[in-house]
Amino acid sequence: MRKHIKGNVSWVGYIDWELETFHGDDYSTMNGSSQNAYLIEEEKTVLIDTVWTPHRFDFVENLKKEIDLNKIDCVIANHGECDHSGALTALMAEIPDKPIYCTANAVKSIEGQYGKRGWNFNVVKTGDELEIGGGKKLVFIEMRMLHWPDSMATYMTGENILFANDAFGQHFAVEELFNDRANQCLLYKEALKYFVNILNPFAPMLKKKLAELAALNLPIDIIAPSHGAVWRENPMQIVEKYAQWADAYQEDQVTVAYDTMWEGTAKLAHAIAAEISRQSPGTVVKVFNVAKADKNEVMTEVFKSKAVAVGSPTVGNSILSSVAGWLEFLKQLKFKNKKAAAFGCYGWSGESVKILKELLAGAGFDVIDESIRSLWNPEEEDLAAAAALVSSLLGKSPEE
Ligand code: FEO
Repeated sequence: MRKHIKGNVSWVGYIDWELETFHGDDYSTMNGSSQNAYLIEEEKTVLIDTVWTPHRFDFVENLKKEIDLNKIDCVIANHGECDHSGALTALMAEIPDKPIYCTANAVKSIEGQYGKRGWNFNVVKTGDELEIGGGKKLVFIEMRMLHWPDSMATYMTGENILFANDAFGQHFAVEELFNDRANQCLLYKEALKYFVNILNPFAPMLKKKLAELAALNLPIDIIAPSHGAVWRENPMQIVEKYAQWADAYQEDQVTVAYDTMWEGTAKLAHAIAAEISRQSPGTVVKVFNVAKADKNEVMTEVFKSKAVAVGSPTVGNSILSSVAGWLEFLKQLKFKNKKAAAFGCYGWSGESVKILKELLAGAGFDVIDESIRSLWNPEEEDLAAAAALVSSLLGKSPEE
């Protein structure tokens, strides 16, 4: 069923209430998601994006209830990833000759996934325009690496709508559709989680793109992303948030992340957390066992932090696989402007702290010298060492 957006523009996407994970199992979607597609019915009828492959037949059947598919003059494919292009095969089977407007890289990704089917691709680049009647036009803006090389946005003049695709989205099922009608806590929680886990690796490109968008001086009444709520009330609020988040963001927060074998490393984690509060009562402290906690949620808390302390016992001359996998994901996210410390228990060879420090440095963290390396179970002196570690992490003396 369509939902009215503005003027002759409607939402015709799919709300995925049951979705539990995205990108395989790499991203937890605790509040569902949506794949937003949009229908413009001016003198020309334009479909912007489709939905994920499993929903392709439902999408086409629902679209048929709204319009005669032969009335569609063209399709805009802002992005080739299958959560937005996945219904093209079912749709183009019905309207095989209609033009598809997209970037040159999107042709590669769409043909790469679905094969060369002879579709009528029209390659566009930043600044290209398409007249749609009524004095309105669509303006294309390449969004390279936000978050794929093929990504682009489409701006509709007259209604002043930026169809931003993945940028400014959230994995958040919102039947009410608009940001002002959504639960505000969940909206921002999911917008930040999405930014941290999907877009942060491309933050330098994002900063440049935000500046480029600002220089275009386009009036923006609505930002319509390809996932989650449509930004209708004060749409620039999410642009302002992105500008902050893309600028080596941090709050007065420290995250302690660890896994443990026989609770020794857990005791160190809790001692470090308590010491942070003792030395800096205003600092928010988060503690996670990374083998048990949701990794996307933990990464969101690390993103908000000014420092992390990461712990693992030594096992097999190395670290626990849970922590190793977590650190690999941490590296991918390319956080900036954060300190890190390492800690862990050992019984024999005791390499974990050295390995943790190397991996944290490789992930772009400013690793402090102080660490806690505890033989068997933490003793009083190990727990006391937390004071020096924490003071260095916080950049203050232990007695402050
Ligand atoms: Fe929502 Fe990059 O796909």
